[in-house]
Amino acid sequence: MLKNLVIGILFLAVSLFFHLPSTEAGEASYIGTDGCKECHKIETEEWQSSKHAKAFKRLLPPEGKKQKKKKKRLVRTLNKKLKKDEQLDHTKDYSKDKKCLPCHTVGYGKSGGFESVEKTPGLMGVGCEMCHGPGSEYAKLHKAKELTFTRAEAKAAGAVYGSEDEKVCKKCHVNPDSPMRAEVDEKYKFDYKEFLSLDKTYHKRYPLKGKH
Ligand code: HEC
Ligand code: HEC
Ligand code: HEC
Ligand code: HEC
Repeated sequence: MLKNLVIGILFLAVSLFFHLPSTEAGEASYIGTDGCKECHKIETEEWQSSKHAKAFKRLLPPEGKKQKKKKKRLVRTLNKKLKKDEQLDHTKDYSKDKKCLPCHTVGYGKSGGFESVEKTPGLMGVGCEMCHGPGSEYAKLHKAKELTFTRAEAKAAGAVYGSEDEKVCKKCHVNPDSPMRAEVDEKYKFDYKEFLSLDKTYHKRYPLKGKH
């Protein structure tokens, strides 16, 4: 009796584990900027020269005297406020550090996401999908329906909208895991409206042709 019950529960648990996820939007994986650029040339070009695109460089040790001096000053200021186990070292290479990668790469630790500079060079920096959501499914939707897909369909396929939901930005900009938070230095205070309007930090915003 009891044995059958246990087997029954186990079977249920196993089948839930294997079946539930496939019906959820969480299935979408990261495809990188290369998966968007053929259709979104202007945004891609603008993004390439933006701060977000260059965010990975921040994890590398400084090059040359001038950079070194600047980083030393930055780190010295931050360390005054950072907790003991958060202290930074201005000469250290953080480009393999698990603590830093989630906010300075695309999809670190997630399906299709950043693994290392050698394996996934196209996923360095804060790419398109960190603001728009993992693209494997909605990119297919954009291709299939071009001007006629709806936002609801895109969301079901994993798209997110930073202009509708400040959480999209705040998971990096207002997060206790980040050494660059407002409690450590005022200059990192995140003003959603103001920051969203600074489109030169990602790409300019262009009117769409479709109604979506
Ligand atoms: C095969 C072409 C194609 C690919 C690949 C593609 N898109 Fe699109 N995308 C489109 C088209 C077409 C539209 C509709 C444009 C319009 O209405 O003016 C669109 C619209 C959008 C929009 C605005 C629509 C909305 O939902 O508000 C965003 C944001 C976007 N794409 C992001 C991306 C990102 C990020 C990627 C890569 C992960 C991507 N797209 C891949 C063709 C594509
Ligand atoms: C939770 C997200 C998050 C994590 C984790 C994170 N960062 Fe950042 N980092 C940010 C954001 C957001 C900014 C930009 C802040 C701004 O300018 O307002 C930033 C900026 C920086 C800068 C530039 C700061 C300046 O004032 O010029 C450096 C350097 C940096 N990060 C290094 C690191 C290192 C090293 C780690 C790991 C120990 C790390 N980050 C972990 C989100 C994060
Ligand atoms: C820092 C966040 C951020 C990054 C990074 C980013 N975008 Fe956007 N993008 C937005 C926001 C915000 C909008 C307005 C719609 C929304 O809320 O998602 C937008 C709108 C768009 C649109 C709609 C048309 C337009 O230009 O306004 C397209 C297409 C698009 N992005 C493509 C891309 C592609 C391709 C990349 C990477 C090369 C990218 N975006 C990187 C924040 C970002
Ligand atoms: C995956 C993490 C991540 C997300 C999501 C993200 N950002 Fe950022 N953002 C960063 C990092 C890291 C930097 C620092 C880049 C650098 O200095 O090299 C940054 C820099 C910026 C800057 C420049 C700040 C300065 O001091 O010059 C602005 C503005 C900004 N982000 C706005 C936004 C907005 C608006 C959104 C949401 C639509 C957003 N970000 C989403 C990580 C993120």
